[in-house]
Amino acid sequence: MSYDVVILGLGYVGLPLAQQAIRAGMSVLGFDVDVDESVVLSLAEGRSHVDDLSGTDVEKMLAGGFQPTTDETLIGQARTAVICVPTPLAEGDGPDLRAVLGATSAIGRNLRPGMLVVLESTTYPGTTDDEVRPRLEQLSGLTAGIDFHLAFSPERIDPGNAVYGAHNTPKVVGGYTPKCTDRAEAFYGRFVETVVRTRSTREAETAKLLENTYRHVNIALVNEMARFCHELDIDLWDVIRAAATKPFGFQAFYPGPGVGGHCIPIDPNYLSHNVRSKLGYPFRFVELAQEINTTMPAYVARRAQNLLNADGQAVRGATVLLLGITYKADIADQRESPAAPLARQLAALGATVAYHDPHVTTWDLDGVPVSRTDDLTGATAAADLVILVQNHREYDPDELARTAKTLLRHPRRDHDPRGPSVVIRPFRSGAGPLPLLRRRAVRFSRPFPVRGGRSPTATIPSRGAPRTPRVVPPARHRRAEIGGRARTLAGPARRPWPKGTTRSSPAGAARSEPRTELAVRYGTGWLRLGAFHRVPEKGLQAKVQRELSR
Ligand SMILES: NC(=O)c1ccc[n+]([C@@H]2O[C@H](COP(=O)([O-])OP(=O)(O)OC[C@H]3O[C@@H](n4cnc5c(N)ncnc54)[C@H](O)[C@@H]3O)[C@@H](O)[C@H]2O)c1
Repeated sequence: MSYDVVILGLGYVGLPLAQQAIRAGMSVLGFDVDVDESVVLSLAEGRSHVDDLSGTDVEKMLAGGFQPTTDETLIGQARTAVICVPTPLAEGDGPDLRAVLGATSAIGRNLRPGMLVVLESTTYPGTTDDEVRPRLEQLSGLTAGIDFHLAFSPERIDPGNAVYGAHNTPKVVGGYTPKCTDRAEAFYGRFVETVVRTRSTREAETAKLLENTYRHVNIALVNEMARFCHELDIDLWDVIRAAATKPFGFQAFYPGPGVGGHCIPIDPNYLSHNVRSKLGYPFRFVELAQEINTTMPAYVARRAQNLLNADGQAVRGATVLLLGITYKADIADQRESPAAPLARQLAALGATVAYHDPHVTTWDLDGVPVSRTDDLTGATAAADLVILVQNHREYDPDELARTAKTLLRHPRRDHDPRGPSVVIRPFRSGAGPLPLLRRRAVRFSRPFPVRGGRSPTATIPSRGAPRTPRVVPPARHRRAEIGGRARTLAGPARRPWPKGTTRSSPAGAARSEPRTELAVRYGTGWLRLGAFHRVPEKGLQAKVQRELSR
């Protein structure tokens, strides 16, 4: 046989696998069936279409003997065939197996005795034995486990992960027979450090779905916590940081604007669909997680609406700039990205949506192109609201916070100490920011009654705060709210304010000094009280009460 392995499907999974095999000294054939052959042609010319490989990597692969092709008859010249084709969702949320069955048929028509066939595409338990095997046997006249070997090995690739790649992420393999598992273990053992055997194909298939369901469910858990922590004025990021110090029994997950990519929002559905169709009852965790995660873009749009509202601005007519529209940071893959439903929601509310993303040159929503900008600083300063959707490494949140009028930041770069979810809003009046005003936020230690029938709990109590309004030291023009808790960003050092008064400037300072803008936290937004040179503290509560009662 001329090739050690043929890889069917040269995408995000197949191409890195081909690279690993070439590096291990194998001869590799790459088979793809894209209609206009663009994938195969561009690879043959040394161009890459996936994030983790550069054009230089592809050139090295070609130099190492990699042969991309659309000619299926060459498959019969390979000792091993690995299927890495897509498994999108079909109607009714089950997997669409057309690509898997198409690739299986291409192998079946060219299968030779002694070959090993491995399915890597993510799918529901039973696919390898019940769908792939009969088709291979029928088309080839050969018998699995006797004439050829068959196994499932889930792909665990994490695009953009600089630490764990194909060679050092343990590979799970489960064969149709123990001998099939032996063959698969020997094949992967040539270029993967650790190979983990399962009892059969079904355990390997289910292991992949358990991994992704675990992630999906835990992301949903923190996303739900993010909502109520915001309402309760609890800093969830601080909560997670504290919980993550437990050396056992806890793994940190972080909230975000939703889940994306091909795996997390989709794969758990295979399992729940499988459970429901075979056993007749729901897999409730998956369904609940799905419900929470898919509503996150709408939640973020609502937070955006509240922020604009707090500035006295409607979403309709506002310019909203989305930063990073891919499904995760530092990659170009936009599949299932929550940026799309978020942009749809904002557009439906009447916002003018634009985006900046160093990895994405064009973006359209339902066929309508979204306006793109290259000028990050200019667009950030000009937009009414900036939403940091994906924290690409090109973005500096602190710099964005300084430039943007209003910034809503959700995602956190893993291991980024700057990480917490930050909502930053300068106080604005009319059309523009008020750069000369210093501003303070007042908090009350406990709710107090207000006229006009509004809930006394409209103000958020600050745990441990004094009973009288507490004055947060002045920030220059920006204020950060971390998980609902106030934090001064770039302000002068705290001044010793004379007891009983809140002042914009030290005692005796001239009236020409910057004034202080006062606002009170109200529900999820802020109520602006106005700009003052000097406000006696005892008059402050009355003023807040008056404002809340209006
Ligand atoms: N992308 C990931 O991060 C990731 C991670 C783990 C698992 N997976 C799983 O791996 C599988 C492949 O995903 P991907 O991201 O590489 O998909 P992809 O869309 O990037 O690439 C798939 C390639 O397969 C080709 N193809 C389609 N039908 C074919 C056929 N019949 N024969 C040969 N080639 C065919 C397509 O033209 C495409 O080039 C999916 O089941 C996915 O769930 C993906």
